[in-house]
Amino acid sequence: MKEQASYYIELEHHYGAHNYHPIPVVIEKAAGIHVWDTDGNCYFDFLSAYSAVNQGHCHPKIVQAMIDQAQKVTLTSRAFHNNLLGEYEKYICNYFGYDKVLPMNTGVEGGETAIKLARRWGYQVKGIPENNAEVLFVEGNFWGRTMAAISSSNDPSSYAGFGPYMPGFSLIPYNNIDALEQAFKNNPNIAAFMFEPIQGEAGVVVPDAGYLQKVRALCSQYNVLMIADEVQTGLCRTGKLLACDHEQIKPDLLILGKALSGGLLPVSAVLASDEIMLTIQPGEHGSTYGGNPLACAVAIAALEVLKDEKLAENAEKMGEIFRYRMQQLMQKTNLVSTVRGKGLLNAIIIQPFGDNKTAWDVCLKLKEHGLLAKQTHGDIIRFAPPLVINESQMHQACDIIEQTLLNLH
Ligand SMILES: Cc1ncc(COP(=O)(O)O)c(C=O)c1O
Repeated sequence: MKEQASYYIELEHHYGAHNYHPIPVVIEKAAGIHVWDTDGNCYFDFLSAYSAVNQGHCHPKIVQAMIDQAQKVTLTSRAFHNNLLGEYEKYICNYFGYDKVLPMNTGVEGGETAIKLARRWGYQVKGIPENNAEVLFVEGNFWGRTMAAISSSNDPSSYAGFGPYMPGFSLIPYNNIDALEQAFKNNPNIAAFMFEPIQGEAGVVVPDAGYLQKVRALCSQYNVLMIADEVQTGLCRTGKLLACDHEQIKPDLLILGKALSGGLLPVSAVLASDEIMLTIQPGEHGSTYGGNPLACAVAIAALEVLKDEKLAENAEKMGEIFRYRMQQLMQKTNLVSTVRGKGLLNAIIIQPFGDNKTAWDVCLKLKEHGLLAKQTHGDIIRFAPPLVINESQMHQACDIIEQTLLNLH
């Protein structure tokens, strides 16, 4: 007998921690840009698991790579070598132009790893006195939920009630070059500046043109490592392979995650030069699953798909159509006050309507009409479909958004 959606929702509520507030849809199948719920309804996925399924759900080539490898060997731990790790390391280093990679699993572990490398480099190479290294962040940053990540956050829903916090982190406003230079001038113990080239969870906040180049120049001038967190913006999401490519700059440390596996399993990576990477010695950092052969096979396939299917170019083109359609919609209703983004990482801001209704209510209506998206920070809806979406699908999806917003009350 097939259960009702409410059965699965109630199970999660009863047995699971209440640390999320999902849209009430129960997905049981997915392919490409679509997902199906337990009642057989089909939806456009306009979240892509927070940009983890850039290549589309259950991409056949990535799934095949996973099946093939799962039948050989999946996990060796790093106590032994395996025949895929080195191949993958060579592949990803050449792909992004770095000397070395350190493989991890989740995005937040990538962030933790980058910070450890930066602190180590700060002591060994820059000559910062022991335990004095500072890592500079920007307001509105989001890089996960570990103690270090929340210690660098200025969002109370991330950090409040979880103290004491980790020292050695400070914050400046995003998109503010003067504040960055002031911080570098005031503190010679800054080892690194870690930031997202477009802030994802903050609501798709795009910095001014030229910001990335100026950050690069200041980091070089003050001998501070530039850490780009491209866990959400990377891997073709914004219309280039990396969001940093929009301004032709190369960070000293690059953090990748999410779409590095195309949504099949947690795979993250930190890429850097020998000078930075070799400050960590055997026994000083690692992870049981980091660099496992299953992840290596999947990540190679996921990276190949990005290039083979020209997903950066498609994201760029489809993003233009999306923003054009949303700008047209803004002429027809004042419910939408802003549309912003790059490539297929976009957001709209919803004005309050009806009886204290918000972006959450809009997402519920979108779901009724066959499109899944999720609000962030109360009034923002992020729209980030898989990058394999084509022009007619994009217009169909925009029709749904338009009709839903024009018929709200
Ligand atoms: C920019 C950025 N960095 C890091 C993370 C953390 O990734 P994970 O949830 O895989 O730990 C996220 C997650 O949304 C993110 O958006």
